[in-house]
Parts: sequence; C-alpha cells; structure tokens
Amino acid sequence: MDTCALCAGAPAMEGNRMSLYMGLDIGGTTIKGIIMDEQGCISAENSIPTVCGEGLADCCVELADKLLGAAGIKASELTAVGVDCPGMIDSHHGKVVFAGNLRLKDYPLAKLIKEKLGGVKVRICNDANAAALGEARFGAGKGYRNSVLITLGTGIGGGIVIDGKLFEGFKSAGAEIGHMVIEKNGIPCTCGRKGCFERYASARALELKTKEIMADDTSTAMWKTYTEKTATAKTPFEYMDTDDAAKKIIDWYLKNLACGCVNLANIFRPEVIMIGGGVANQGSRLIDPLQKLVDAELFGGTDYAPVKVCVASLGSKAGEYGAIALALRP
Ligand code: BGC
Repeated sequence: MDTCALCAGAPAMEGNRMSLYMGLDIGGTTIKGIIMDEQGCISAENSIPTVCGEGLADCCVELADKLLGAAGIKASELTAVGVDCPGMIDSHHGKVVFAGNLRLKDYPLAKLIKEKLGGVKVRICNDANAAALGEARFGAGKGYRNSVLITLGTGIGGGIVIDGKLFEGFKSAGAEIGHMVIEKNGIPCTCGRKGCFERYASARALELKTKEIMADDTSTAMWKTYTEKTATAKTPFEYMDTDDAAKKIIDWYLKNLACGCVNLANIFRPEVIMIGGGVANQGSRLIDPLQKLVDAELFGGTDYAPVKVCVASLGSKAGEYGAIALALRP
C-alpha cells in the first residue's frame, strides 16, 4: 500500500531515505498500526485483536512484525515507535500505571516492546491524548486554540488542548473524561466508581443497551436482521427512523453523550468538541441532534462563546495518527 494521507500529494523523497515512524493504537478490542514516513505517506497498515493482560506487549510486537514485513524494512530502520494505550499512562517511564479495560497495572509496556524490537525508541501515552495530538496536528483540531476530543469506543477517552497545548494533568494522569459520573449510583465501571460517562455513552454502552432492549422487546424490528449476539452500536442507528425501540435507544444515548459534552464545555469552553470512534461514523445523524442538545444546555447560551460539535476528521485512523504524532514529538 502507498497512500499519501497527510502530505497532500507531495512527491516522496528519492535518493535519501526519509525517516520512518510506526504508530500502534491499542484499543479494548483491536490494536491498529501503521508505518508512515515524515511526509505522511503510509507504507504499511494492519490490525490484530487485542490480547488483554500481560500478553499485550507480545501482541504489539506481533503486529509490529507484520507491519515491518509489509513495509519491507527492519525495526532498526524506524526512527521511533509511538504507542497509545487506554488508561493511566506514565509516559516518562513508559508504563501502563492502570488500565481497567485491559486488566493491567504497573506494566512496563514501552520497555517490553523496545526490547523485542531491538532497542528502537518507543514512546507511549494515553490513547485519547495521542488522538487529540493527532487531530490537533493533522485533523479537525487544526487551527483551534482550545479543543476537546471525545473518543467513543470500548471506553470513553478524552484529549484536551488548552491554548494550543495538550493538557495531561499531574503525571499525565488527567483528562479521564470517561470517568466523570453522569448518573450517581449508576452502572458499575471498571474504574471502581458507579455511573461513569463511559458506561452510558461509549460505543460499548450503546451496544449493551441495544442488546438489553432487544432481549426485553421481541417485537422490535431490529430482530429482523440482528440477534442479541450480532447487534452492535450501529444497529439502533440503522433502525431509528422506522422502529420505536431503536429511536428510544438513540434518544437515551444522545442525552447521555450531550450531558458529558455540556459538562466538558462548561468547564473548558473549547471552541470545538470533536467526536471520534466508530459511533462518529454516523456523521450528521449523530452530530446534528447532539449539537442541538448541547446548545440547549450550554452555560450562558450560544451567542457569546458557541461550542461547535463535529466529527473528528481522522476518523478510524485518529489513534494511529495520534501514535505517529507522539513518535514525531521532539
Ligand atoms: C480509559 C481511558 C481511555 C479510554 C478510551 C477509558 O476507560 O480510562 O484512559 O482513554 O477508556 O480508550
């Protein structure tokens, strides 16, 4: 594969070899990876299912080997590898301090990958922070001084850019927006609290709600093409115009998502809130009603300092580009 996603058609450098970077984006279910040169041209792209727990580093290396094979290069030819990972990440020491959804605590991820890739430089950081870096550098956050990225996947991640700088909090442990409570004493979360935003507005939460409603309602049209096993977060979107149960699920979901967006908007008052993750592929079906709900509850209304809600433009590649943006960091 030889696509030029970021260099807008600039010719590849001939003669002198360009610096090559690998980005690995660890998600709760899949690890995605790319190899890219400094002009943004991708030479390899692949993904594999995530192995949670202690086997995670081996899983990353398995994907890295596939990518190196596809690009026809050795690990020693990489300038740096950027790895983004859900959870609390100690980016200085390359450790996963805590990642509930990956069942990891105090795990030296960068060191393990580095050893297995022959000593190449490996940087790690929180997945959503990396994605916000990627969006700010290459995507929908470009040109804004204040932006918030919300990633909707197995969990909910957050990346906050204030005055042009990524805000990571003390020891890069902040911006855990998925763990703000939006329902007191609500659904238990892997973090130990109850009622976290990600239990109500992640793609996983939408999928679980859909399955729960289908189990309770044998007459919903969603049964025509899906079972409790095959239904996903896309299912209610497909049926929302024709089926009451699907419409109710989407209304429930949008209210939850809007609640989190307004909380964030009222605290940070960003110019833009970017929505990433698979659910964002719904485009205007998600964004238009969400913008209305946010506008209706925004502190002080929308005249003075409106907050634009939009789809994160790097789409399903935000994580990989974020990991590359991390590898590119001086
Ligand atoms: C984790 C975050 C992560 C997010 C998205 C949450 O459960 O706590 O660190 O960014 O999921 O993967």
